Amino acid sequence: MKKILAVIIFIVFTSCKNDKNLFKDPSASIDQRVESLLSQMTLEEKIGQMNQYNGFWNVTGPSPKNGEQADKYDHLKNGLVGSMLNVRGVKDVKAVQKIAVEETRLGIPLIIGFDVIHGYETLSPIPLAESASWDLEAIKKSAEMAAEEAAAAGINWTFAPMVDISRDARWGRVMEGAGEDPFLGSKIAMARVQGFQGEDLSDPRTIAACAKHFAGYGFSESGKDYNTVDVGTSTLYNIIFPPFEATIKADVKTFMNSFNELNGIPATGNAYLQREILKDKWNYKGFVVSDWGSIIEMKVHGFAKDLNQAAEIAVNAGSDMDMESYAYVKELASLVKDGKVSETLIDDAAKRILRVKFELGLFEDPYKYCDETREKEIIGSAKIHEASLDMAKKCIVLLKNENNTLPLKKEGQKIALIGALASDKNSPLGSWRIAAKDNSAVSVLEGMQQYTGNKLMYAKGADVSLGKTDFITEVYINNTDKSDFAEAISVAKKADVVVMVLGEVGYQSGEGRSSTNLDLPGVQEDLLKAIHKVNSNIVLVLNNGRPLTINWADNNIPAIVEAWQLGSQSGNAIAQVLYGDYNPSGKLPMSFPRNVGQIPIYYNYKNTGRPTLPEKDVVFWSHYQDEKNTPLYPFGHGLSYANFSYKDLLVQQENNTIKVSVNVSNTSKLKGKEVVQLYIQDLFASITRPVKELKGFNLIEIQPGETKKIEFTLTEKELGFYDNSGKFIVESGEFKIFVGGSSITTLDTSIDFKI
Ligand code: BGC
Repeated sequence: MKKILAVIIFIVFTSCKNDKNLFKDPSASIDQRVESLLSQMTLEEKIGQMNQYNGFWNVTGPSPKNGEQADKYDHLKNGLVGSMLNVRGVKDVKAVQKIAVEETRLGIPLIIGFDVIHGYETLSPIPLAESASWDLEAIKKSAEMAAEEAAAAGINWTFAPMVDISRDARWGRVMEGAGEDPFLGSKIAMARVQGFQGEDLSDPRTIAACAKHFAGYGFSESGKDYNTVDVGTSTLYNIIFPPFEATIKADVKTFMNSFNELNGIPATGNAYLQREILKDKWNYKGFVVSDWGSIIEMKVHGFAKDLNQAAEIAVNAGSDMDMESYAYVKELASLVKDGKVSETLIDDAAKRILRVKFELGLFEDPYKYCDETREKEIIGSAKIHEASLDMAKKCIVLLKNENNTLPLKKEGQKIALIGALASDKNSPLGSWRIAAKDNSAVSVLEGMQQYTGNKLMYAKGADVSLGKTDFITEVYINNTDKSDFAEAISVAKKADVVVMVLGEVGYQSGEGRSSTNLDLPGVQEDLLKAIHKVNSNIVLVLNNGRPLTINWADNNIPAIVEAWQLGSQSGNAIAQVLYGDYNPSGKLPMSFPRNVGQIPIYYNYKNTGRPTLPEKDVVFWSHYQDEKNTPLYPFGHGLSYANFSYKDLLVQQENNTIKVSVNVSNTSKLKGKEVVQLYIQDLFASITRPVKELKGFNLIEIQPGETKKIEFTLTEKELGFYDNSGKFIVESGEFKIFVGGSSITTLDTSIDFKI
């Protein structure tokens, strides 16, 4: 009997295995389907899955006949392209998908990638701004909306979230990340992945996410984009890696490697990063796409002698998909034949890519993201704009508010609005906004006019930039033209309060936008000073993609609002905060330096052996002779129109955890939200620990006069750290526990923790 059963099982199994159509059967497991498909693929077809091309011709026009475009088109028709990026809109996506599905031998659908960084056509705030909300639900919702809008345009894969930690505001891409802290960064990374991917990746409203750039990209030397990265294991394991690992817990489907070299090895060719850490230690099952052209750039790095060797190094190091280097499609087959690359690695990469395509449901319906009715209904819909406005309000950080300058009065106050950015409908969209319509954001002028009608006096004051700006070209700043100052001064003289919107134009931050000077660009600080001479009752609203150095403003201007680049609904969100219809609760995710020379500056620094002044005027301590050590505004800082007080900090050990509780009261007459922040310091350890580390936070709403008891549990996960071999360890000893509304905490106590 047993024998007969075994024979039956064998027959069923082999017939399944030989069933060419098994990969089309939704009732089979994804692994079975992947295996079935792979077993029918030629080496060239497997390599084709690893090849990604940028949208390269007007896909709905005539097909290209000559040159590189014709080659790419030919590859697409012959099943040698696995993915395309920057093809968008149902009509175009359908056109390329049709070629892949209907003209190739196996009909494998394409995965369609796009930089849905903070929205598709309707933009939400830049990621750094969203991070200032510390509101994980809102961030998740924002990613969910971005996914839904992008998916309605045919896209099924975003190159986001960027989870690179950075301590350097000179680096223009800080706008795309979550700031300087690995704990906050990890929570936000997870929320964004969950938002993009949803509960079910095959739902046509969700898209695959991509954790990028693995790894170290945010630590480029001197804040210069693409520059060398040289960091030790302690920083790598404790600061850079955690948000990446967190995205795996959130089941992120893909990773992108980075342009930089890390300790001498370009990330794209770095087997330690991609194989040892990512695929082995973290057991990651998704695929890794190279960053744009980063495989061939290994030649420029001086790490590969030609395209052939670059392909060999990249694939052996674990880069599964080639974005725009043409290295895999041109070189991999011969590398396999020459025995330099094992076919098992090709199989592994192709399987990883195919698995995501199955999970997206593309084999059931390759056109599931190509529904014209949904495209019309969803893109730019009221629902998406409402979500964008809701998120935008939550990102605004009140940096300073003396003499109750804010909120503005809705009646009886003569208001002047000054600044080119105040009427700018493009800059709030930031720099990652390829699918957005130019000049489509609500400006501050428009937002405020809803409260003031035409009583609002507006003057530009000065241009920030000269000429047209776009994604690829350098921004030229107006450093000289002050011809419009006079008009602004005369308007300011007539006003009770002046709102000045100053900062960066949208394209001043982002990829390739590093700066050595973080002052208000061009003549804007001069404008601020000129207006201040005639009317010092100023509210400064900052629009920018990175921390700026604004010491003069901090010393002289009574109210300062950090309003970043807030996306399509920017002006409405800013107006609601200025007029007090929304009580701000944002907190900085990145320290604001006083001076560029302080960079890298971050709250979780190490103590050093000489942290304090030994004696008046003695120099032998870790300091600058011309600047303070502290930032202008610390990490976690942000005010509210309400006031909060902290008391009764209690800590106790329970088993292997520390329980913390604190009472937070709203001592004002206004309802408000506060981010209660918990930091620790491990006073003595086998590897020196930072003076403070964020290990918990809770965004709460408190009614006037109300007190809320807030509780946290610190487990070994929060109390431990990685040693220099990458091992996570927890040590007994004295810990300081701090609580407050910023990293400059209000309360602290100590506990002797025993494991
Ligand atoms: C960027 C990536 C981006 C890719 C595709 C690269 O230049 O570094 O973050 O996803 O382009 O647009």
